[in-house]
Amino acid sequence: MLLGESYVADRQLATAVFLALRLERPLFIEGEPGTGKTEIAKVLAHALGAELIRLQCYEGLDVGLAAYEWNYARQMLEIRVREAAHEGREQIARELFSERFLIARPLLRALQAHGTPPVLLIDELDRADEPFEAYLLEVLSDFQISIPELGTIAAARAPVVVITSNRTREIHDAVKRRCIYHWVDYPDAARELEILRRKVPEAPEVLSRQIVAFVQRLRTLELYKLPGLSETLEWGRALLALDARVLDPDTLDDTLGMLLKYQDDLARVRGEEARRLLAAIGEAADG
Ligand SMILES: Nc1ncnc2c1ncn2[C@@H]1O[C@H](COP(=O)(O)OP(=O)(O)OP(=O)(O)O)[C@@H](O)[C@H]1O
Ligand SMILES: [Mg+2]
Repeated sequence: MLLGESYVADRQLATAVFLALRLERPLFIEGEPGTGKTEIAKVLAHALGAELIRLQCYEGLDVGLAAYEWNYARQMLEIRVREAAHEGREQIARELFSERFLIARPLLRALQAHGTPPVLLIDELDRADEPFEAYLLEVLSDFQISIPELGTIAAARAPVVVITSNRTREIHDAVKRRCIYHWVDYPDAARELEILRRKVPEAPEVLSRQIVAFVQRLRTLELYKLPGLSETLEWGRALLALDARVLDPDTLDDTLGMLLKYQDDLARVRGEEARRLLAAIGEAADG
């Protein structure tokens, strides 16, 4: 199913995805930047013909933006209208906290969906604050949200939940325990080549092999930030745009910024080191 969407997964990731779907458990994917964590949710939604509901996490994300919020403006308006019609206070108060006045944010929307269960992507959870993780526990274990003024809203069918983290901090055990955990590493050369072939099919075979061999070697250096898969693909597209058929030292120096995004790393690799790596992959290919 993943391959059908041009997503090349190894057996362990495929197993984790299968189990998440079969056991209706959230999938927790942690790993290096640019290794296909967010993509897996997109691909799943497309393959399942499901809606993708995305919650991008950031510092300060709160329940009001993640789960639900009361529509105060609309409630105020309702009060005015009803007071003008001389309705009793108690009756007004009772009806103000009904679903009609509730604004559903991603978490609630995922639980309220009808038909095919949606894919709920909770992206980069490590950027959110810890109290938000605690809030997630109820959603993740029971697929429900408790709203004090209204009661509990539970999903008719469990949504497919994908949580990602770049591990800038550890996510609490309680969250992880409710999920199927998978760590994504940088792909090995064979898988990276396969992904490059699928995602940038216009690239000549020789060039693709050189790209992958070079990036794989680059990842063995002690750099501040190693290039991810997205960098490999972007670099491939850049080399094509420059009509490069093979890697040569000058093109390499000119396009290194597609792979390395820190000045220190660039300064370290550009020039001699890049030439050394290029020579090394040349020898490997010859041998
Ligand atoms: N296994 C894969 N098969 C095919 N394409 C992939 C795979 N992994 C990643 N990609 C491609 O690499 C790019 C980056 O993937 P994605 O955005 O999912 O990374 P990420 O792990 O979420 O990165 P970040 O941590 O920066 O958010 C995407 O364009 C995606 O198409
Ligand atoms: Mg991502």
